[in-house]
Amino acid sequence: MARNVTVRLGFEGNISDVRLVIPDDEPTPWQWGEPLAVVGREMARVDGALKATGTAPYTYDVELPGMLYGAILRSPYPHARVRSVDLSAARRLRGVRAAIERGEAVVRFAGQEVAAVAAVSPAIANDALALIKVDYEPLPFVIDMEDAQKPSAPRVFAGRANIGAPAVFEAGNVRDGFERAAAIHQAVYTTPVQTHVSLETHGAVARWEGDQLTVWCSTQGIFTVRDDLAVLFNLPPDKVHVITAFLGGGFGSKFGAGPEVVIAAQLARAAGAPVKLMLPRAAEHVATGNRPNSWQQVKLGAGRDGQLVAIELLERGSGGIGGGAGSAGPYRTLYRCANIRTEERDIYTNAGPSSPMRAPGWPQGCFALELAMDELARKLKLDRLELRRRNNANPVRALEFELGAKVFNWHEKSRAPKALGHRRRGIGVAAAAWHGLGSAGPQAQAIAYRDGRVVIQIGTQDIGTGTRSILAMVAAEELGVPLRQVSAEIGDTRYLFSVPSGGSSTAPSNTPAVRQAAAHLKDKLLRIAAPMLGADPASLEARDGTIRVRGQPSRAVSFADVCRSIPADSLCAQGERPPNYAGFRTDQAGCQFAEVEVDVETGAVAVLNVTAVHDAGRIINPLTARSQVNGGVIMGIGFALFEERRLDPISGVMVNPTMDDYKLAGPLDTPEITALFVEVANGVTNTGVLGLGEAVHVATAAAIACAVYDAIGVPVRSLPITPDKVLAAVGKV
Ligand code: MOS
Repeated sequence: MARNVTVRLGFEGNISDVRLVIPDDEPTPWQWGEPLAVVGREMARVDGALKATGTAPYTYDVELPGMLYGAILRSPYPHARVRSVDLSAARRLRGVRAAIERGEAVVRFAGQEVAAVAAVSPAIANDALALIKVDYEPLPFVIDMEDAQKPSAPRVFAGRANIGAPAVFEAGNVRDGFERAAAIHQAVYTTPVQTHVSLETHGAVARWEGDQLTVWCSTQGIFTVRDDLAVLFNLPPDKVHVITAFLGGGFGSKFGAGPEVVIAAQLARAAGAPVKLMLPRAAEHVATGNRPNSWQQVKLGAGRDGQLVAIELLERGSGGIGGGAGSAGPYRTLYRCANIRTEERDIYTNAGPSSPMRAPGWPQGCFALELAMDELARKLKLDRLELRRRNNANPVRALEFELGAKVFNWHEKSRAPKALGHRRRGIGVAAAAWHGLGSAGPQAQAIAYRDGRVVIQIGTQDIGTGTRSILAMVAAEELGVPLRQVSAEIGDTRYLFSVPSGGSSTAPSNTPAVRQAAAHLKDKLLRIAAPMLGADPASLEARDGTIRVRGQPSRAVSFADVCRSIPADSLCAQGERPPNYAGFRTDQAGCQFAEVEVDVETGAVAVLNVTAVHDAGRIINPLTARSQVNGGVIMGIGFALFEERRLDPISGVMVNPTMDDYKLAGPLDTPEITALFVEVANGVTNTGVLGLGEAVHVATAAAIACAVYDAIGVPVRSLPITPDKVLAAVGKV
């Protein structure tokens, strides 16, 4: 059954009453100006001490009695036929307990899995790999995206073109638009392959007990891993138990049972003992996913007033043997334009497969579009921020542009002198967008114990954003108790189902289920309290650690006393996450401002400060939300200035698969980051929470590239903006 509610929704300066139809057993969505006691306050992570002291149990830390260590043999060739694999010498090595073949007839990238062993120590496992004899027939290969498009190029997949089918989006008519344009800018922009570099590498510990498989896994999706393994080993899902207590990052690369997880389970079965298989760093770079590169031919047309009249994108991107390289999202979203055409094509190469990576496609699309916008602004002799304001597609972002410009000091900085000796300062701004709405599916359990503790259980996982904290906060809010009384248990498929942590959906998918479960538990507690207070349950509320008659705070009984009256041991209630309501707005905006200093003698770029303005519906915990902004910005600095997977053209092998040679932004590269949030009461769920992890990474590299252009007066249209490219741009080499 459903009921109608009218709620105050919107954002500063734009609030209205909106009627929503919600299920009967749903709490009314938190609305604009709702007075909340716990939600919205800065709270230290409930598991922060565990992490800081190194006692939080990551998959890497799992040790079982009799556990073996797995290792994977990988192809040294980027393309080869596997004629035979001889495991006999490896099997004879003392301490080796199992050796298996992957069974691929052809390998298509250097680093692809060929065979694996399990042994009593990691050292013996590695020695055993050296004893495996593989007879390869090397085949012609192609690793360069441009080469791969030539008719003469070796085929990555036999009988299939290296150029994928085009994905075309068309609105209006770009040709008409360009005919009306007063200014047109066209250029080609490129971005490199970026790897995820999760601090905890991929891997698992697998244990069989009869036909029961238990897997401790570094994953973003415990239920996805469960289902993948159930299919693969032909087991009912309840025979597979997946545990991820803590997870050292994933960024999109850890959604299912990848080869290393499957191999761990196969080795454990073959050896009759548990097997731990965590990837070495090099394999992590080579074989577990990446952000595809991009070649983007961008054409923008605008009227004299700066109004965009046409946007055109021709894009090619290579995710190696994987697809999904498109980058058109920002072109269709950030700015209002009647005529838009985007065409994306995947190009296949003999390189490790792509996987989703933090706002797949968007940082690369945003970089090219936003730098092109700056080049167009210069042609139009228009202020860059003004050009964006005139074409901005989102009313929340309009507010964010104003707020960000003020805090960043855009106007003062625009007028400041650019040159200080051989250093040039510049500023840039870029728009962000995302759609972290979450989805239906999660189910939560809330349990109150007689000692007054409340435990929330839900089968989600914490990718690193502080999920336990925000779930406990939501439950504490609903039950009117302090945060310390509530704990959240997650990361186990024995709890009720939840969705994978991807698409910035963890907070928006799980908080509504937890709030509903807590509300149902509250109903039960109110029924226990009612006779204690001589009142009707409907007249009661739970606040400030008490259950009391609404409007009569002195007629109260403590939450602890109510819990003491729970019959037997505990009281349990469940909640589920319904589909999103129509709400107020279902998109997310955001924008980031960056200031850089470019040394025109050395070509080095330093990011001085970043102001990031974002909206994510209701912010549950500003402290952990700011952490996500910091992470997104720091990762964006790496994408802008440093990161690039390099393959050797002769051998097709990755030459920088270490954290020394694959350069990430480090502490010295990290500027002052100011995170600002614009609160939007969106009413799409009972909490109104949207995701943040991806939105905050979309615009950083773009803002930095725009700032470099401002500093040196020449656009560097190719990421990463390395010193050689800067020096070439300023004419030094
Ligand atoms: Mo994300 S790329 O959906 O983890």
